Amino acid sequence: MTTLLAPKVYLNGLFVAREEACVPVTDRGLLFGDSVYEVVPAYGGRLFRAEQHITRLDRSLGAIRMSNPLDHGQWLAVLEELVSQLDGADQYAYLQVTRGAYPGRSHAIPAEVSPTVMAFASRLPEPDPRIAAGGVSAITLEDIRWMRCDIKATTLLANVLGHSQAREEGADEAIFVREGKAIEGTASNLFIVSSGLLITPPKSQWLLPGVTRDLVIELAEQAGLPYAEANISVLDLEAAEEVWLTSSTREVMPVTRLNGKPVGNGTPGPYWHRMRELYAACKVHLRSGEECRS
Ligand code: PDD
Repeated sequence: MTTLLAPKVYLNGLFVAREEACVPVTDRGLLFGDSVYEVVPAYGGRLFRAEQHITRLDRSLGAIRMSNPLDHGQWLAVLEELVSQLDGADQYAYLQVTRGAYPGRSHAIPAEVSPTVMAFASRLPEPDPRIAAGGVSAITLEDIRWMRCDIKATTLLANVLGHSQAREEGADEAIFVREGKAIEGTASNLFIVSSGLLITPPKSQWLLPGVTRDLVIELAEQAGLPYAEANISVLDLEAAEEVWLTSSTREVMPVTRLNGKPVGNGTPGPYWHRMRELYAACKVHLRSGEECRS
């Protein structure tokens, strides 16, 4: 299998060959999942919404009582260097900050923290044309995650198991449901179109404040598409004309089958087609070195 990863990775201040980058077995990221991360897309070699991702990293680190080991300028320099390796390919930069490695295993947060900072770049797989043509399928699943889903933490076991259950049941994704409300996908935010209104759940402790989610809202606003931030009941979800899942790596995906039944007429809907155009225009501007605008 050909690797999608760029040859050099960033580890604690250095760019090193991927095969040579090592972290100690006592790293708290490994032992406790004591770490946070970001995934920043890049198109034509240009980082997309990097400032927003780094701002969210500040927020996640603050929430786990850490300070950001790099400032925004330093992060941008690291990420740009990483993505420069793949000749302008569509890709993403992954970064992770753990609370570091210490001689031994203790739940207690050390008085002197020396974090592990790592990042790498990877090509994005070619977009699957079947998704634009026919959409993806999703199931709903009880949300068994913790109460701080707004922190972009690497403790993703519930997400991994949820995604795996979706695959076992022949679907592409799972949408988490908590107390009768549809929250988000296992690695994506949720939108529905209901009576011509675009709706996404409000930001809260139950979901990740997605950068793509914010962009979709921004694009809807610019284009005059009516939208609202409101809770989505499972009944609303099942009755929706359109369902979308958004993320930095998969952009805006139309869900056309939910729990084995068609969403709307079972094909990507007109609002999704409009949003796809707006998103694509934004990427065209980015590639030519301009601000993202629709
Ligand atoms: N995941 N919700 C969850 C639980 C996520 O893991 C993600 C992204 C999102 C969408 O956030 P954004 O638009 O900022 O990418 C929502 C990344 C892509 C991942 O874990 O690979």
